[in-house]
Amino acid sequence: MKKIAVFASGFGSNFEVIAAATESGQIEAEIALLVTDHADCYAVERAHNHHVEVFAFNPKSYPSKADFETEIVAQLRQRDVELIVLAGYMRLIGEVLLNAYPNKIVNIHPALLPAFPGKHAIEQAYNYGVKVFGITIHYVDAGMDTGKIIAQSCFTAKGDETVDEIETKIHALEHTLYPQVIQQLVIC
Ligand code: GRF
Repeated sequence: MKKIAVFASGFGSNFEVIAAATESGQIEAEIALLVTDHADCYAVERAHNHHVEVFAFNPKSYPSKADFETEIVAQLRQRDVELIVLAGYMRLIGEVLLNAYPNKIVNIHPALLPAFPGKHAIEQAYNYGVKVFGITIHYVDAGMDTGKIIAQSCFTAKGDETVDEIETKIHALEHTLYPQVIQQLVIC
């Protein structure tokens, strides 16, 4: 069984569906590790519920990104992790991880890239007045949400939704598409 790691910093709803998909067999892989920069985030509780090991680190206790990423790579290598799945990990990936896992790091973004990269993408798109909302799953490179696109999914807004309603629909798209794409990546 292939080993994957999920990186998350917050609520972890994507972690939850990925964990459930590994348990049901939809994803033919095991989550060997949850990596988080926030030891007290809800994703950690979810990992415990799914009996997934957690590596929580405090970036401030390392001299540099290269130092904490070196530690992360060691944690991943110890567990033979082959694919890194970012799911709400709120940090740019640096050279150490990119070099250790070339083309083996994927991310999900709650907008149709290349529009609205970075933080608060849903609010950015909503405030811009877009009519079509969507999500993007992409390989990770050194830029902010700039890597090669793997998959996208979208819906047309009715026009009277609140931003919270749009967000709910976007998360529903994420929760369907991310497990499907991860399975494709795991078996190829
Ligand atoms: C998702 O909207 C994802 O697209 C973005 O961060 C959010 C994470 O949500 N990268 P959750 O923590 O998985 O609930």
